[in-house]
Amino acid sequence: MRIFRFDEIDSTSDFLKRKEDKQEFDLAVAKVQTKGRGRRGNTWVSSQGMAMFSFLLKVDKNISLEEYSKLPLVTGLAVLKGISRIENLDFKFKWTNDIYFNDKKLCGILVEKVGEFFVIGIGININNRELGTVENTATSLINETGKSYIIDDVIFTVLDEFKKQYKRFCCGEWNLILTEINSRNYLKNKEIYITGSSWTILGQAGDIASDGCLEVEINGKKEFFNIGEVHIKKG
Ligand code: BTN
Repeated sequence: MRIFRFDEIDSTSDFLKRKEDKQEFDLAVAKVQTKGRGRRGNTWVSSQGMAMFSFLLKVDKNISLEEYSKLPLVTGLAVLKGISRIENLDFKFKWTNDIYFNDKKLCGILVEKVGEFFVIGIGININNRELGTVENTATSLINETGKSYIIDDVIFTVLDEFKKQYKRFCCGEWNLILTEINSRNYLKNKEIYITGSSWTILGQAGDIASDGCLEVEINGKKEFFNIGEVHIKKG
C-alpha cells in the first residue's frame, strides 16, 4: 500500500483520480483540502483536525456494476464499525452513506468510479471543533467526547474495517451486512422528504431493502428509492 500525504491539497479524491499509475489501496491523506468535494456536486468543508482521506479499490470483473451499487453502503458500515473501535458510541447509519451521532452528521463518504478503480473518499469530523456553516447539522468526535484523537489511528482502523467488510461482501455476505446496516438505520420510522432533480416526495422511511434502495411508505403504499437527497421533516 502506497501512502501519499499532504499538508494541503485540492482534494484527496481528485489526486487519486488524476494519478496515472494507480494501484489498489493507494491512500491519499490530507490535513487540509482547498477544494474538498461532497456528493451531488456539494463543497465539503475541509478543515484541519478532520480525518480526510481517499483510497483506490480495483474493480473486480466477477462483480457486476449492479452489485457494486451497494459499495457506498458497505463503506458506510465499515466507517461506522471503524470509528466504533476508536470510540464505542451509538453511531447511526444514514442512507445512503453518512454516519450520524446525536442527530448530527459526523462523516461523509463519496464513492466514484474512474476506469478500473473506485475512488473512495471519506471525511470524518474528529478533532475539528469549529464546524462553521454546518454547525447546526454536523458534529465532531471531539465536540461529543471532549477527547482528541490520533487521526492516523482513525484512518488506519477505518481502512482495516473496510477491507474486512469488503471481503464479507465479496464472499456473499451481503444479507448479513444489510442486517447490521438496518440495525443502525437512522432514518427508520422518520418522516422524510426525498428530493430529486425535479421532484420531491414526503413519506415515512422504513428499512433499506436488499437491493440497497430505501423503503418509504407514501400514503400507505411502500415505494423504493435508489437516488435522491434525504431531509428529515421538522416538527
Ligand atoms: C458527502 O457527504 O457529501 C461526502 C463528503 C466526502 C468528503 C471526503 S473528504 C476526503 C475526500 N476528498 C474529497 O474531496 N471528498 C472526500
